[in-house]
Amino acid sequence: MTSTLHAPLELIDLHPAATDMRQLVIEGMSQSPKQLPAWFLYDAEGSRLFDQICEQPEYTLTSTETALLQSQAPAMAAALGAGTLVEFGAGSARKVSPLLEAMSNPAYVALDISSEHLQAACQRLHQRHPQVPMLGICCDYSQMQQLPLHPLLAQQRRLGFFPGSSLGNFEPQEARALLGQFRRLLGPGGKLLIGIDQPKAVERLEAAYNDAAGISAAFALNLLTRLNRDLGANFQVDQFRYRARWLPAASHIEMALVSNQAQVVQLCDRDWSFDGGEALITETSHKYSPESFLALASEAGWRSEERWSDGAGDLSLHLLKQAD
Ligand code: AVI
Repeated sequence: MTSTLHAPLELIDLHPAATDMRQLVIEGMSQSPKQLPAWFLYDAEGSRLFDQICEQPEYTLTSTETALLQSQAPAMAAALGAGTLVEFGAGSARKVSPLLEAMSNPAYVALDISSEHLQAACQRLHQRHPQVPMLGICCDYSQMQQLPLHPLLAQQRRLGFFPGSSLGNFEPQEARALLGQFRRLLGPGGKLLIGIDQPKAVERLEAAYNDAAGISAAFALNLLTRLNRDLGANFQVDQFRYRARWLPAASHIEMALVSNQAQVVQLCDRDWSFDGGEALITETSHKYSPESFLALASEAGWRSEERWSDGAGDLSLHLLKQAD
């Protein structure tokens, strides 16, 4: 007889400390070139625009990874084995369903810094998978010493999930540190399934970050609107233009807002001058070949167990296990 009982959904709010945006802005604007943390792009409007980017025909990362997860979920579930899936920065948790369907008796833990996103995502996911025990933890996982000793985390092996090539938005030394943090939080025997976008033809890369509909540009320019609103800045948004370019030596796409003219902007009670043509880097997106990613991962104590890639070799989902 099939049980119709629903598994529990629980939420824990660890009240992560608010980040000192002013301090980070002052540090980033004092650098040469000026560069702000990529996560500043994601206010409510930025998150809405990012969802639209994912639907642009030039930006194939999301659709490629989603298709790969759907087609390979049974093989991934078999390789992951039994345990609790722990999704880092779950956001709207739109990618995990094929794994939850393919795993036998899975449990799911979503970690995210935004309690609103977390609640909405967990409730939606729980409606879709009522038999899967779920826990949402509102936290800053990059700063935690350990995960809470909840039964879903204490009694089963922890299987990390970090899709979307989000690691690419960290500079390599930060990416290495984050992979090390995942290893500590997942504990002995933990594994990590992680999506990594790969280098490809420069025309395709640059088009993906500069779509014809102008959504990528609007997404970057929205950062200035956010700084005006949240930090009392006075950027004239139409005095900056968006630029996305592939820098092969760094193996990353650099996204920037370029000043149309020499100008002075007030931000965080200070004056910041821009030369005409000077860039404010809003984000970088690093692309790793399988070899270069595994070299980085091994420096953080991981080694490769399996890898799944789409036919064109655009992107890989790597399954990592802890190095002995
Ligand atoms: C979230 N992250 C993986 C995206 C990327 O492809 O680097 C962010 C992005 N920014 C502009 N377009 C996409």
